[in-house]
This record gives sequence, C-alpha cells and structure tokens, in this order.
Amino acid sequence: MILRIKIGAFILSPELKATVESLTGDRLFLRSELSVHEGGSRSAIEHLSSNPTPDLLIVETTAENEALFEELGALADSCAPGTRIILVGSENDVNLFKTLIDQGVSQYFVGPPSGDELKAAVMEAFVDKSQGDKSHVIAVAGLRGGVGSSMVAHNVASELSLLKDDDVIIVDMDINFGTAALNFNLQPAQTIVDALAQASSLDEVLLTRYLEACSKNVSLLASPGSLGSGVELSSLTFEPVLKLIKQMAAYVVLDVPHVWNSWVQDILVDADETILVATPDLYNLRDGKNLVEFLSPHRGPEAPIHLVLNRVGQAKNGELKPKEFREVLAINPAVSIPYDIETCTTAMNNGEMLRASSSRAKVTTSIEELAKLVSGKKDDGVGIGNADKKGGLFSSLFKKK
Ligand SMILES: Nc1ncnc2c1ncn2[C@@H]1O[C@H](COP(=O)(O)OP(=O)(O)OP(=O)(O)O)[C@@H](O)[C@H]1O
Ligand SMILES: [Mg+2]
Repeated sequence: MILRIKIGAFILSPELKATVESLTGDRLFLRSELSVHEGGSRSAIEHLSSNPTPDLLIVETTAENEALFEELGALADSCAPGTRIILVGSENDVNLFKTLIDQGVSQYFVGPPSGDELKAAVMEAFVDKSQGDKSHVIAVAGLRGGVGSSMVAHNVASELSLLKDDDVIIVDMDINFGTAALNFNLQPAQTIVDALAQASSLDEVLLTRYLEACSKNVSLLASPGSLGSGVELSSLTFEPVLKLIKQMAAYVVLDVPHVWNSWVQDILVDADETILVATPDLYNLRDGKNLVEFLSPHRGPEAPIHLVLNRVGQAKNGELKPKEFREVLAINPAVSIPYDIETCTTAMNNGEMLRASSSRAKVTTSIEELAKLVSGKKDDGVGIGNADKKGGLFSSLFKKK
C-alpha cells in the first residue's frame, strides 16, 4: 500500500523531528510529500493562514487546558474540511484524550511517539480497513529484458493455483509486448487496455468480463500485445483497476515489463512479494545491484525481495555463481531455475504451462518451489490509502476554508 498524501509537520522537539523524518524511508510514504516546520502549533496556525492545507497535520504543542482548545479552534479556522490531525502534547490526561478524539483529532500522543506508533496513527487515519485487499500480490519483473520473467510469472501463478486450490488472477502489464495470452493459448476479446479505458465506471462484475479463463482457478487480464494501444500509463491509470482486482482473487500475479518509470517503481515497492528474475551474467549483476539498492530501503526488512536466477547452465563458461550475486546484492538467490530449452519451447509452442510439458523437469519443480516461497498470506487486512478515503475525522472542528 502506498499513500499519496501531503503531510505538514509542525514540530518543537528534535525527537519528533527525527521520528517524522524517519517516515520518508517507509514504503507507505514513497509517494507522499512531507514538509517539516519548526515552531509547533503556533507556526502551524500562521503557516496555514496563507498556505493550502496538507491532508495530514502533525502538530506538537505545549498548550494545556483551554489554551489547547483555543489553538485547535484557530487551526480549524485555517484548514480544509477532511484534514486529519495528529497532536503531540504534554498533558497526560485520559479525559483530555477522549475529548480530543471526540472532536476529531485522529490521535493524541503524550510526548513524541516512536516511528512505529506514528506510522500506525497515520494508517489508522487514512486506511480504510473495510476496503482491505483480499489478495496476496506477487509482482514479477526481469532485471533485463528477455530473462524469462513472464514465463516465471505465469508458471508461478499456475503452480499457486494448484498448491492452494485458490483463485489467481494474472495481470499482464506489458501492454505492447505481453505474452501471457500466447502462453495460455488464448485470443482475448478484451484486454487490460479496455479495462483501463473504463476504469472510472468499473466494478467487479464489469471487470470479470475482461478476464479470460486460463484454467480452473487461473484467470488473466491480458495485454493486447500490440503497438497501437494509445494508453498513457501511470500509477494513477492502473490504481483503480488493480484495486478492484485485489478484491477478486486470493492471489494476484503482476507480470511487470522491463521498463523503469514511476508506476513500475510503485508496483515493485508495494507488492506483498517482489520477484526479480535474472540470468547469471554481469549485466544482470550490475542492474540487480541498482534495483536492489532502490527497492530494499523502501520495502524494508519485513518485505524482502526474492531474487531468482533463470536459464542457469545455458552459458557453459563464464556464468556467474549464486555466491557472486549474494556478495554484490546482499541477497541470497531464492531459487535457481535451470536452462531447459526443450520443456520451455514445448510449453511456448503448445500455449501451455511447464507442468503440462514436463511435470518432473527441474525447471517445473524449481518454479513450484518458488510458488511455495511466495504463497504466504499477509494478515494486515488493509486497503489502498488515499487522502479521500475516510471522511473528515477533524470535521467537527474544521470549517470550510
Ligand atoms: N529456464 C529457461 N530455459 C529455457 N528457456 C527459457 C527459460 N526461461 C525462459 N525461457 C524462454 O525465454 C524466452 C523469453 O522468456 P519471457 O518472455 O518469459 O522473458 P521476459 O523476461 O518476460 O521477456 P520481456 O523482457 O520481453 O518481457 C521464452 O522463449 C521462454 O520460453
Ligand atoms: Mg515479459
């Protein structure tokens, strides 16, 4: 989940400043804008009187009793309705806490909170739990083009559906060159481009019409795989469609094309599981280092990246070893998939999954192993967050600007 909000922090203490600034390293805030101002509540009132209100205010104050409520009233006069506020004060009083929450303050902390406490308060204010994603999202991307990431994505999806006997939706995000329909021997009547064009009026029932059945439990939102789609892609283009898809199946597998732009970054940061597919050579090592250095700090230790080496054994000489990837990327390759031109070509030509071509081949069993590795279900039960998700918690205090 990635929040797209503007946060204004008006702080007094260096402790709160450090905590607030630490938020920017969290993937939840990858696309949020944070501005930090010294001077606490007084500077907030002054600043907001002549500047647009952010979606979230984090305000530190030393005011107590009546003075505190006067400050809140002054803040309310300067803010747009729907603005959330997290207040950091000094008065430790349960009744005060209750009154503040009743009046629409999202959270009140006595003294600077920890980073985790502050993050939890922001999520509480912006994330609608009733809209929780049903699915476990697995994004698969190649470190370079042509390394086999789509083959891995489609077969992981198929293996997952067998392992878990659960629904899986594959989204082929490679609009121009996607291969998912070919790999499942389908000729889609409608594709992701049609779904994106209808994004504002889509619901689950309508979206089902754009899905193609690949097997008992696997469906595909196919790409046209043609050059003339005419769609300009961005995170915001995909967001409504992905939000619906995430309600429709236990697993969503995203076949991410080898391009580097902000929507791809969002997908790879946000997915529950991110699989990076590499072939064991120097180019992949260099690009892997760059990608891991970008993704790891944003995903954090709780969401590690799965590095997969593919086509292992293809180059007889000079192939890099898993150890060399481990040393440079500080990630242990999770799975090594052997080069098996026979099984892969048979599958490709027949439009079938590897298991149908050879259930015992190592290429098939290693992808089954990968599917097991990424099958863990998350339990945070939260949905995509946006500024407009929860209506004006602070509305009883704030008047229209
Ligand atoms: N382990 C393997 N052994 C042999 N052939 C493989 C293996 N993995 C993938 N291939 C073959 O490599 C080709 C490219 O695979 P695929 O289309 O999945 O790559 P990709 O990374 O998605 O490419 P693109 O960057 O174009 O999206 C396919 O013909 C596929 O069958
Ligand atoms: Mg591909």
